[in-house]
Amino acid sequence: MRDGEPGIGQRMVAAIRQRIVSGQDPPGTRLPSSRALAAEWGVSRTTVTAAYDQLVAEGYLEVRQGARPVVAAGLRGDGAAGGAAGGVGARLSAFGRRLAGFPVPAGPGEPGLVADFRYGELSARDFPALPWRRAVTGALARAPAVLRYGDPAGSPALRAALAGYLWRARGLRCTAAQIVIVNGSQQGIDLCARLMLDPGDAVAMEEPGYALARQAFAALGARVLPVPVDRDGMRTAALPPARLAYATPSHQFPLGGVLPVARRRELLAWAARHGAAVIEDDYDSEYRYDIAPVPPLQAMDEEGRVLYLGTASKTLSPTLRLGWLVVPPGLVEPFARARRLLDRQSPALEQEALAALVEGGAYERHIRRARRQNAERRAALLAALARQLGDSVVVEGAAAGLHVVAWLLDVPAALEAALVAAGRAAGIGLHPVTPLFAEGVPARVGLVMGYAGLEVAAIERGVAVLAGVLRGVG
Ligand SMILES: Cc1ncc(COP(=O)(O)O)c(C=O)c1O
Repeated sequence: MRDGEPGIGQRMVAAIRQRIVSGQDPPGTRLPSSRALAAEWGVSRTTVTAAYDQLVAEGYLEVRQGARPVVAAGLRGDGAAGGAAGGVGARLSAFGRRLAGFPVPAGPGEPGLVADFRYGELSARDFPALPWRRAVTGALARAPAVLRYGDPAGSPALRAALAGYLWRARGLRCTAAQIVIVNGSQQGIDLCARLMLDPGDAVAMEEPGYALARQAFAALGARVLPVPVDRDGMRTAALPPARLAYATPSHQFPLGGVLPVARRRELLAWAARHGAAVIEDDYDSEYRYDIAPVPPLQAMDEEGRVLYLGTASKTLSPTLRLGWLVVPPGLVEPFARARRLLDRQSPALEQEALAALVEGGAYERHIRRARRQNAERRAALLAALARQLGDSVVVEGAAAGLHVVAWLLDVPAALEAALVAAGRAAGIGLHPVTPLFAEGVPARVGLVMGYAGLEVAAIERGVAVLAGVLRGVG
């Protein structure tokens, strides 16, 4: 129960108000019943009723006797209603207005759950705290140099260390000068979008695909064109003309296909035909279990069309915000200029610490250990799903990465929200695949199940709870 948490009611009020002000919930939208919202947030119905009462008092909601509240008539979604986005908020740029229309992903996992299968988390137990502490202390000893502004393209030591690492780990050949350090993949995607796209340009994007990439393109006014995905990843034969393509060839996000070599060739030939660039998001290639290593698309690219993107978010921590782009030599300077303008550079201490970790071999030792740990978690999840759910589940994308997609064959899409709410009430975090589809959504419920943030016992308990929840919902 979260009712004891300070301000939960106020946060609920703010969240609902924000959806109304941003236009996500236009006038007339019927809000969930107090029972459903209470289950979703893990609070009592009294808390929900109090939140609704406050929004009625503020004029955001209207209630008719006994019915669910609706968004009040006359409220416009562009902030003109005043309140949180009034004043200058009403004059947001086109970029700001586009952001308001994007769905917001689920917030940080809640501490009290039996198991939150939220994808993207890593177990804090896996973090190599001691080597990292030594590396940071060593970097600090190099003050004052490390405390002065540095190269916006990144620390020379880290770029050199990564050039060696990428060759050893991925067979990717590049010079240190081709590497641009970024604040995680997300900044890399955003920089590629800013530098390669103009408003109105077309971007080809896997469907379903990584929502934060899709949003980064759409926020800049690009037209995002979906390219269907099957069990082998992007169906490259269906690529429409575009200036840029975004792909996850090593492990399609979220469905997990590994792009076969013929499709890789087809993607590069498409790029050559259209004078397009390709973002290769190699976000979790350190983790593969039943398949041989697949070299990156970048290694096949002879024309300098691939912008390769790697990250420490799946190996060390997503909060370090360290990633790397490998770009054709002529693009390094534009990327460095953009970086200088946006935020000057990535944090120097962390860059130097990572450089020392990679250079001294500790990074690769850590990855080998993390791969073993995650292989155990994955095996536990697959075994528990098979044991508890049997033929009613089909698991996709388990050969690599840190998540699977579990299709619940007996649960029609219409029951998705009820399943998530029932899961939350029973203490598990469930995360449907639907927000990763831009267009048609599947007929059955599919769950993106991340396991890297959970220990084996929690995975097993979580799947057992899921089985119980499914019996209830079914
Ligand atoms: C497809 C994809 N790319 C990249 C990332 C990592 O993002 P970042 O490096 O910005 O933390 C994720 C994490 O969830 C992802 O799913």
